[in-house]
Order: sequence, then C-alpha cells, then structure tokens
Amino acid sequence: MNNQPGTSILQVDGLSVSYGLFKAVSGAGFEVAEGEIFGLLGPNGAGKTSTLSAIEGLLKPQAGNIFVAGYNVQKQPLHARANIGVQLQATSFQPELNLTEIIKLYAGIYGVDLTKDKLQNILQDIKLESASSKRFGQLSGGQQQRVSLVIATIHDPVLVLLDEPTTGLDPQSRRQLWERIEGMKARGHAVLLTTHSMEEAEAVCDRIAIMDHGKVIAIDTPEALVNIHRNDPEVISVSRKGKITLEDVFIGLTGRTVRA
Ligand SMILES: Nc1ncnc2c1ncn2[C@@H]1O[C@H](COP(=O)(O)OP(=O)(O)O)[C@@H](O)[C@H]1O
Ligand SMILES: [Mg+2]
Repeated sequence: MNNQPGTSILQVDGLSVSYGLFKAVSGAGFEVAEGEIFGLLGPNGAGKTSTLSAIEGLLKPQAGNIFVAGYNVQKQPLHARANIGVQLQATSFQPELNLTEIIKLYAGIYGVDLTKDKLQNILQDIKLESASSKRFGQLSGGQQQRVSLVIATIHDPVLVLLDEPTTGLDPQSRRQLWERIEGMKARGHAVLLTTHSMEEAEAVCDRIAIMDHGKVIAIDTPEALVNIHRNDPEVISVSRKGKITLEDVFIGLTGRTVRA
C-alpha cells in the first residue's frame, strides 16, 4: 500500500438500506482512514451488519454513496471489492477441507500467488503449523478465528471489515485478536469492526460511531464521547459507580430498553 498517512480509505455518505418497507439504515455517514481502527457500536438491530453488507456490495442501498479506496462500491464493485477484506463467519468454511486446503482455496479465489514459503509463513504467523492437516471443524474457536482473520487479509486489502470479531472468544483469544487487529493498523490497513463490548471499543478503537435505529447518533474518540456527555442528565442517570464510562454514554444515548 502506498497511500499517504491518514488518507481516507472508506467514505460512507447518506447511506440508507431497506428490507421491503422496513428501513434498517437511514442516512448513516462516517469515514475511516488508513491506519485507523473504527468501531461501529449499537444495540441489536441498530443496522451495523446491514451497513457492512452495503460496504461489501452485497446489498443495494436505497440511497447514499460508499467509496472504498476511491472506488464507488455501486459503480465499480469489482475494484472496490478487491480492496476489501471481510472476516467470514466460521461456519462458511468448507468443513471437509483441511487448513492448508482452505488457505490455498481462498488465495486462489483472491488471485494471490501462494508459494510454499508464503503458506508456511502464514501458518507460522497464526501459530498453526502443527495443525495444517486438521479440518477446520477440529480447531478451537480461537484457532478458527485466527484462520478467518488471516484469510480476510490474504490479498492485503486496504480495508478490513470485522463483524463482531471477538464475540464468544475467551479473554486470552480476545486479547490476541486485539493484537492482530492492532498489527493490521500498524501495517496501514483501515479496520472497521462492530462490537458490543465497550471495553473492546476503548481498548482498540481510535474512533467509534454509535448507531441506533439505523442512524449514527454520535462519532468521536471513546475518550471524547465520555468527556462530551459527562454532564448529560441521561448519562448521569444510568451511571452506576459515580464515574462516567463509555457504557454509561452508550446506554444514556440509546436507552435502557433491551432490543430483541
Ligand atoms: N434480510 C433481512 N430482511 C429483513 N430484515 C432484516 C434483514 N436483515 C436485517 N434485517 C433487520 O434490519 C435491522 C438491522 O439489522 P442488522 O443490520 O443486522 O443490525 P445489527 O447488526 O446492528 O444487529 C433489524 O431490525 C433486522 O431485523
Ligand atoms: Mg449484526
């Protein structure tokens, strides 16, 4: 990659996504820069996954524009997609293939020339050299997560999309994944992830957007969001231990009601 530091990699502008008459995303907008980890937070059903799907070009927005590395996702879908790495759900891998076969398969799909050395380096990097002949289903959750992450970035995309990457991981695997995500940032990738974890948002995200009912209701650094809303009566009223946290801000802005 040879973009200038801070170059905007992803621009989402006025994005609206509907399923039939139901508006899942309405007028969402944000940008993610090279070397930035951007978190999309929101209660269940807020429209996070729909937003990612629109960025991937998997569904047609009702309105708005999305640019990835300067390519309009709707008008130049192949160019845009070549610049995106998406972490696939573990279940979407062919269960009968072993680890080496899966990595080779996806390298082939992305047109990456995978030499024996490169394959070895990848296996080494994800600490699964000794598991290379295991089938995907035989790996632990954390190991599967490492495989899906390495496949998402096998073509060295500028933009990496991760939908709830740490859900269900134990604390060790989660920490390790954070380090891998930080490694992507250090190599200049722009990372857009969704999460329910405020701890994760504070620990790894440079900036976050809080989404609710399809709208982006706040964008800033985690620290700034806490500072800006520290005297907000809604936020103070949900605060539990006197000290305002990002979770207090989140609940203050999105309400206490549990979403289905
Ligand atoms: N394929 C679909 N058909 C109809 N409604 C959908 C579909 N996908 C998502 N929705 C609805 O759109 C809203 C946003 O969903 P989603 O983007 O998955 O939210 P999130 O990822 O923030 O939980 C929800 O109300 C969800 O039920
Ligand atoms: Mg989702």
